[in-house]
Amino acid sequence: MNLAQLRADTPAVEQLIHFNNAGAALMPNPVIEVMTGHLQLEARIGGYEAAAQQAQALENVYSSIGRMINARPEEIAVIENATRAWDMAFYSLPLRAGDVVLTSTTEYAGNFIPYLQLRQQRGIEIKVIPNDEHGQVSLTALRDMLDDDRVALVSLPVIATNGGPVQPIEQIGALARAAGVLFLLDACQGVGQMPIDVARIGCHMLAATSRKYLRGPRGMGFLYVEKSLCESLQPAFLDLHSAALLTPDTFSIRGDARRFENWECNVAAKLGMGAAADYAMAQGIEPMWQRIQRLAEHLRNRLAEVPGVTTRDAGSIKSGIVTFTCKDASATQVQQWLASQEKRINVTTSTYRSTMLDMQQRDLTEVSRASLHAYNTEAEIEAMVQALAGMADT
Ligand SMILES: Cc1ncc(COP(=O)(O)O)c(C=O)c1O
Repeated sequence: MNLAQLRADTPAVEQLIHFNNAGAALMPNPVIEVMTGHLQLEARIGGYEAAAQQAQALENVYSSIGRMINARPEEIAVIENATRAWDMAFYSLPLRAGDVVLTSTTEYAGNFIPYLQLRQQRGIEIKVIPNDEHGQVSLTALRDMLDDDRVALVSLPVIATNGGPVQPIEQIGALARAAGVLFLLDACQGVGQMPIDVARIGCHMLAATSRKYLRGPRGMGFLYVEKSLCESLQPAFLDLHSAALLTPDTFSIRGDARRFENWECNVAAKLGMGAAADYAMAQGIEPMWQRIQRLAEHLRNRLAEVPGVTTRDAGSIKSGIVTFTCKDASATQVQQWLASQEKRINVTTSTYRSTMLDMQQRDLTEVSRASLHAYNTEAEIEAMVQALAGMADT
């Protein structure tokens, strides 16, 4: 990992301090160049013609994403965001009345709402795995819960949108596999931040987005579905790309993961996501992860020294998402104050509506969220800490 290169590729770092990588990270120049290049090609020769000219580059997006998560290209579907990718997997599962879905307290509301919908429509049951003493999924509790034959799915995020623990996904995957239960992993905040290897994790399905730690464009994401499972899952929606009309009465569905895609998509953004995956791998995801964790721990330690500030992350392994509350200011006030600094500091606010179970359990209604990437620096952390310390004087 080359910090100077990372920062040179991210010119906005001269103007601002971007600690909103869990919202949308700053795209590096190589990603922007691929995308603008494609838009210019579309403008010059036409959208379909540009896609045809870039056919091989578009195929390469699948191999790049596959390489990044140790999957085969045919196990990848390119879908416009993590939520829709997750939906395409979840709603294809043949869940029936009485089937149990196990999730974590850190589950994202965008996934929890579909559980509630299927509880209402089909009578599935939702069970929340309790946490252990570190505030992460209790593996002992999970093992016990998996004894119930009715459990059909384990589904949770590796890292929550409001920080907290990095869940022990390899152990969770091993337990789910041993019980013969499907495991759907929301890796939205994990991909690009930490090494993600679907073979080691043992998840059957994984959803992720492009714009967060992966540093790709907005409006893009992907789904992984294990090859052996793909053909047994019928997508909730089909079109003429995921399926073929054979006769006026018959159709067939593609065998690979692209059965979960739809035909029209943002081609420039798709190429941009592939470029972002290539960029992350070229920089080295493991060294970036080490640096992100180091920076985040440094920020937590420094924040703990600021009077009135409480850091809020649990877990034996923590991510680059640092959450905190301030005694005398709301998270919105913190966000506005930091944004108003001479060198703008971007943090955001995570409210209890995004991760209700976790926030309720910890008696929080909102937290400030500073999410660090490898291109951030100790000097930027210091600037934020000083700005927060200065807020008390205003
Ligand atoms: C843990 C988690 N899952 C899913 C999502 C949804 O991602 P997208 O907005 O790309 O659909 C988010 C977004 O913040 C998230 O943090």
